Amino acid sequence: MEGTVVLSVLVVSLLLLFTSAQPLTYDLDDRKGLGRVFDGIGGLSGGGATSRLLVNYAEPYRSQILDYLFKPNFGASLHILKVEIGGDAQTTDGTEPSHMHYENDENYFRGYEWWLMKEAKKRNPNITLIGLPWAFPGWVGNGKNWPYDFPDITASYVVNWILGAKQYHDLDIQYVGIWNERNFDSKYIKLLRYTLDKNGLENIRIIASDNLWQPVARSLLLDPELSRAVDVIGAHYPGTTTIPEALQTQKTLWSSEDYSTFNNAIGGGCWARILNQNYVNGNMTATIAWNLVASYYNELPFGRDGLMTANEPWSGYYAVESPIWITAHTTQFTQPGWTYLQTVGHLDQGGSYVALTDGEGNLTVVIETMTHNHSVCIRPPLLPYKVTPQKATFQLQGSFANIKKLQVWRSQFNFETKRPSFFEKLAPVKLLNGSFTLDLDEDEVYTLTTLTTGQKGSYSDPPASATFPKSYKDDFSVRNPPFTEAPNFADQTGVFEYHINLTDPGPHIFTLRQVVTQRPVTWVADADQTISVLGDHKWQNITVTCDVYMEKSNTGGAYVAARVNKGGGFVRGAEGVFFWVFTDGTYRVTNDLAGERVLAEGQAGTHEYRWYTLSLTVEGQYASGKLNGYLLWKNAVVLTPKNGWAAIGTRSFELAQFDNFAVVAQ
Ligand SMILES: *[C@@H]1O[C@H](CO)[C@@H](O)[C@H](O)[C@H]1NC(C)=O
Ligand SMILES: *[C@@H]1O[C@H](CO)[C@@H](O)[C@H](O)[C@H]1NC(C)=O
Ligand SMILES: *[C@@H]1O[C@H](CO)[C@@H](O)[C@H](O)[C@H]1NC(C)=O
Ligand SMILES: *[C@@H]1O[C@H](CO)[C@@H](O)[C@H](O)[C@H]1NC(C)=O
Ligand SMILES: *[C@@H]1O[C@H](CO)[C@@H](O)[C@H](O)[C@H]1NC(C)=O
Ligand SMILES: *[C@@H]1O[C@H](CO)[C@@H](O)[C@H](O)[C@H]1NC(C)=O
Ligand SMILES: *[C@@H]1O[C@H](CO)[C@@H](O)[C@H](O)[C@H]1NC(C)=O
Repeated sequence: MEGTVVLSVLVVSLLLLFTSAQPLTYDLDDRKGLGRVFDGIGGLSGGGATSRLLVNYAEPYRSQILDYLFKPNFGASLHILKVEIGGDAQTTDGTEPSHMHYENDENYFRGYEWWLMKEAKKRNPNITLIGLPWAFPGWVGNGKNWPYDFPDITASYVVNWILGAKQYHDLDIQYVGIWNERNFDSKYIKLLRYTLDKNGLENIRIIASDNLWQPVARSLLLDPELSRAVDVIGAHYPGTTTIPEALQTQKTLWSSEDYSTFNNAIGGGCWARILNQNYVNGNMTATIAWNLVASYYNELPFGRDGLMTANEPWSGYYAVESPIWITAHTTQFTQPGWTYLQTVGHLDQGGSYVALTDGEGNLTVVIETMTHNHSVCIRPPLLPYKVTPQKATFQLQGSFANIKKLQVWRSQFNFETKRPSFFEKLAPVKLLNGSFTLDLDEDEVYTLTTLTTGQKGSYSDPPASATFPKSYKDDFSVRNPPFTEAPNFADQTGVFEYHINLTDPGPHIFTLRQVVTQRPVTWVADADQTISVLGDHKWQNITVTCDVYMEKSNTGGAYVAARVNKGGGFVRGAEGVFFWVFTDGTYRVTNDLAGERVLAEGQAGTHEYRWYTLSLTVEGQYASGKLNGYLLWKNAVVLTPKNGWAAIGTRSFELAQFDNFAVVAQ
């Protein structure tokens, strides 16, 4: 008797021991059908000017950066490239030029997004291309800060961009959006659909509305005609979740802008978590990172919030950050058109898994165990949750039951030791009766896949990081094809383009010209003046020289500036030392771009349609200025800011030209 009791106690405790050690099993099964079709992982260039400095990298570095972003089986191997349809206005880190500055103007060679799309397509002919406006030239709104009063004008403006992409660059845009993170207008969306169709662009799909899930989801449910016009609901920063109404629409759901997080290891953790969980929690089948590559001056808003960093064209230095390799875990082993399995979800001890199939027997599983503190994105707030080390068994069923072997790729963030290992190829796992077990630690990402492709691409290290050259000049005569902008100038209000005046007999045939003449339909607050910044934000003591040519009578004006401290959405509040000349014959020195804090002023004898050489020197607390080589003013006291970029610009949205720009910094 006693013996039996002892034995049964032993059996029970053994059983208990066994069950507690027994890892949880997750089925990967297609027998009950599949989930949604996967549309891809992408990057967003623009919104705004986020690729500005990339174009000025020398080869081979520029191509290497593009390879890390787009080349299949190499790096991020992105499936989607989304670009801004430039609207001549400030859209976060600068302005991007419009294909129609004026109503009767059309030019499909401005800016760098055409070039970027072609470079992406060169590497991945299947890349999905998307265009979205953030802002519009002023004429589109007929002078009002609103693009929907004349919806037919706005629709043809956007459709022109799509037609131009095909006609001039052989680029097939596949999706187009409405107005980034701003109101949509149902009438406009229907008219956009109609205008696309009328132009033979029935295949182009409309994303609405690049904002929150609401109100667009409700509008689609209430308005069948609108619902027919829209193919995808694109939400921004959805925090991996969606809402019942969005699911009810039965539309494809995307996180059409996400990430926006500093690209250190936590940024990589954010990206790993949302790439899986946007589907697991929110049924989203594409996720697009703002931004593709941090190629803008670091001191502009959201410095380094790109999948990698490439903002030193003068040195050639760039950094392939963890988000690139986190992207590779998904992108290198799936393609748009694959389908998620229904069996996706959360792991028992925290983390998530997704599985996708090509429908031809291939299977890719991506698992992440990012802890809360190591995967916080910039927005929205992330509620606390726990992840602990765990064993997890995956049981393949249905079409996958006979898979014998899976390739294994692993990233370990190793926050404790700060020695991460990203996208490492491990020995394949052999499956026993269709099952495999993993020992998952915290902060890991695994890909298990039947695909035997995949590569951690690499190039030898780029040149060392270096500060912007202390001595820099540009006479704008050596062109920078195929770009319309001069290297390193980052327009913050207005658009500064190369200009050729063949009738000029003298030294100003090749110039840089500010060309925006009307306040755009803005996205954030453009300044009332135009401004393009350049250089090192740490510059203190500096001489900035530039020839200026004002083209607006009476109230025209142009300036050179130093120690400019702000750009992006903060450009209206930019401070610095601004040396202005005006067509009414006066000059002024101000401590701010708005021109309100006057440090000095007087007569200069300046007028329109003549060239003047302005030279501004700031040293310690003092500034002085020369006009055509003669000292015009001196000893202006500058207490703040202590440092900032050099800049050029105009008093208003007006034409003006610049030539022989030079800075000498100490
Ligand atoms: C593009 O897609 C087609 C069809 O899915 C595929 O056969 C081809 O291999 C893809 N090309 C590249 C470069 O990925
Ligand atoms: C959304 O995803 C959840 C979790 O994968 C799934 O159970 C649900 O059926 C999906 N709903 C729709 C409408 O796709
Ligand atoms: C998996 O994909 C490879 C490469 O695309 C293909 O050759 C193969 O037929 C697919 N199916 C299986 C079961 O591996
Ligand atoms: C997460 O970060 C918070 C705030 O810094 C800290 O209080 C908490 O202890 C951290 N949790 C873990 C698990 O590290
Ligand atoms: C595999 O499955 C077969 C049939 O279900 C079973 O007889 C066998 O014991 C299993 N082997 C293992 C190692 O689980
Ligand atoms: C071109 O140069 C001529 C001759 O100097 C000048 O009269 C004219 O204003 C210039 N036009 C522009 C647009 O710069
Ligand atoms: C700028 O000049 C001031 C006054 O000459 C000096 O005190 C300061 O150290 C200089 N700053 C730099 C960065 O050289």
